[in-house]
Amino acid sequence: MSFVTSQILLYAQRSMPAIVNVNGRISDQAHAAISVFDHGFLYGEGVYETLRTYNGQPFLFDRHMRRLRTSAGMLALSVPLTDGEIDARFRDTVRAAGLGDGPDREAYIRILVTRGIGELTYDPAACPTPSVVVIVKPNVDPAPEVFERGVKVTLVSTVRNHPGSVNPLIKSNNLINNALAMQEAFRQGSFEGIMRNYRGELAECTQSNFFIVRDGVALTPPIDAGLLPGITRAFVFEVGAEADIDVREAVLKDADLFGADECFLTSTTREIVPIVQVDDRKIGSGVPGRVTQTLLNAFRAKARALSIHQPAIS
Ligand code: PDD
Repeated sequence: MSFVTSQILLYAQRSMPAIVNVNGRISDQAHAAISVFDHGFLYGEGVYETLRTYNGQPFLFDRHMRRLRTSAGMLALSVPLTDGEIDARFRDTVRAAGLGDGPDREAYIRILVTRGIGELTYDPAACPTPSVVVIVKPNVDPAPEVFERGVKVTLVSTVRNHPGSVNPLIKSNNLINNALAMQEAFRQGSFEGIMRNYRGELAECTQSNFFIVRDGVALTPPIDAGLLPGITRAFVFEVGAEADIDVREAVLKDADLFGADECFLTSTTREIVPIVQVDDRKIGSGVPGRVTQTLLNAFRAKARALSIHQPAIS
C-alpha cells in the first residue's frame, strides 16, 4: 500500500463518528455543540490533552492530568473538575461510545478545557465558567507499514512559537503554528513536519516529539529548545533505561538530523514511528534502525504491562 493510500484509509477510519461529552452532556457528534461566544472559539483560549487506552485503561492518565493543569495555569485558566471527576467523565463517555471493553476496542480520547462563554473582551472575568469537552473515538493506530518501513518527514520553514510568545509548553487549542507547519508537510506528501526554534535549532514536530540516534545513543532536543514536554517522550527515557539504551537531551541542528544513524518521532497516538527520510535525503540506511525497533518493542510491552492489572473500563 502506498503512503498516500494508507493516509486516506487512516483518515477514513479517523472519520468514524465520535461520542462527545459537552459539559457533562453526552451526545453523538452531530449533536455536540458549543456556543460561538465561548472564548475557546473566539480567541483560541483553551488547552487540551490527547490520551488513548491500552487494555481499556486511559494510558498515563495522571501525567496527562498534570500537564493539562500546567497548561491551563499558564493561561490563568482553572480546570473546574478534579482528576476523579474528569476520570468519571472519560469513563462515561468511553462506555457510551461502546469502547474500552476489548483488545480491538481501544479508545482515542481528547479532553478540552476552554475559557467558557462571555462577552467580546479579553478579560477572563467575563467568563466565569470554563467549558469541558471530551471527545471519544475508536483509537486508530498508524498502518503497520508506517512502523515496518518508516516515514518521510519535511523540515519545515515555519518556526516553532517563541517561548516568550505562545509558549510551546502550553498544550493549547490555539494550534495555528502547528497547522501552518503541517500544511508544509502535507504539500510534500510527508507524514510529519520537523520545526526549528527561533535560534535555528531543531525543536519538535507539529504533533509529536522526535529523536535522532547517533552511535547507539538516542538524543532529543531539551525542553528549553521550546517544545511540548511529550508524555511519550518522557516514557521513552524510562523504556530506554530498562532496555539498556542511553537516551539523552541534546541541542540538535540540521546537520545532526541529516547525519543521524536513525531517527524517530513519538506521540500518544503514534507511539514510536521510524523516520527514514527527511525531504529528499535518506536517514541512515533508509530503513528503520535497530535502536528504534528495540525502543518500540519495549515501549509497547511496557505500555500494555502497565495497563493490564486493572479491570477494563466498566
Ligand atoms: N500531540 N509535540 C506536540 C506539538 C504535540 O501536539 C504532541 C502531541 C506531542 C507529543 O506529546 P505526547 O507524547 O504527550 O502525545 C509533541 C497529540 C497526540 C495531539 O495533538 O493530538
